[in-house]
Amino acid sequence: MTKGLTVDLEGRIALVTGSSRGIGAEIARTLAAANARVALHYGKSHEAARAVAASIAAAGHAAPLLVSADVGREDERRRLHREVTEGLGAPSILVNNAGFYRQNAFEEPDDAAFLARWRETMAVNLESAAHLSFLCLPAMRAEGWGRIVMIASRSAFRAETDHPDYAVSKAGMVNLARCLARNEGARGITANAVCPGWVQTEAVRDALSGAAGAEVRAQIPLGRVASTADVANAVLYLVSPLGSYATGIAIPLNGGSYLH
Ligand SMILES: NC(=O)c1ccc[n+]([C@@H]2O[C@H](COP(=O)([O-])OP(=O)(O)OC[C@H]3O[C@@H](n4cnc5c(N)ncnc54)[C@H](OP(=O)(O)O)[C@@H]3O)[C@@H](O)[C@H]2O)c1
Repeated sequence: MTKGLTVDLEGRIALVTGSSRGIGAEIARTLAAANARVALHYGKSHEAARAVAASIAAAGHAAPLLVSADVGREDERRRLHREVTEGLGAPSILVNNAGFYRQNAFEEPDDAAFLARWRETMAVNLESAAHLSFLCLPAMRAEGWGRIVMIASRSAFRAETDHPDYAVSKAGMVNLARCLARNEGARGITANAVCPGWVQTEAVRDALSGAAGAEVRAQIPLGRVASTADVANAVLYLVSPLGSYATGIAIPLNGGSYLH
């Protein structure tokens, strides 16, 4: 943060999906450091989620509420929303970050396998963002204030051949933010997307190491992949008063690797 500039989210409740590690963990830490009460959602990484929560409390911030749920399942999303609302209060900040990437090329010989992967990607990355937004909207409307942020991807704008389902899910998240922005703007609710290129997390460690990693970095004018803090700072902007006029936008955060 710029010296002398403080973002204070006191009184705000933030649900960050997929915050047991990587980008989501950094967003949870950043929002907690700005005084938001954080609901730290995760899937299977119980120990990692507990460690993130402990690091937030050790830094002197309010201890997060931990909730595990498979966001690919609609009943689990409803339970997640209910447990957060009962445990902390209704979220007025929702960061749809949980997601995954996996190869699913059109060369796959088995159409049923291709379709099963396609559906899972859509359920976890896109449907969950729409459903959780839907569940959070009534309380945001009642409060007259809400911030919804999608963690999309540079892939939203590119024709990806190895993982078309991932790219389409992320493009869907960008347009979901636009639809929400138009629908909810008059009610004090903004919706935006952050679209990172490569971000240094465990999920992409192999792709960013060795010769492949060097090739990736060579395509980035700024000469490095994003840190998780680069992404968290963009989220902080969008949910803070600094970003109050931003709605329906998609922030490209790729070091100049894809300019459009
Ligand atoms: N890293 C990159 O280069 C990059 C670039 C652009 C966009 N992104 C996007 O940024 C987001 C975070 O990426 P990351 O690199 O931080 O990923 P990550 O390290 O793999 O973390 C993913 C998080 O999402 C959770 N998650 C995944 N599937 C889930 C499910 N079905 N139910 C509940 N939770 C689930 C995981 O929970 P558990 O581990 O607890 O199961 C974990 O907390 C993703 O949406 C990704 O597409 C990443």
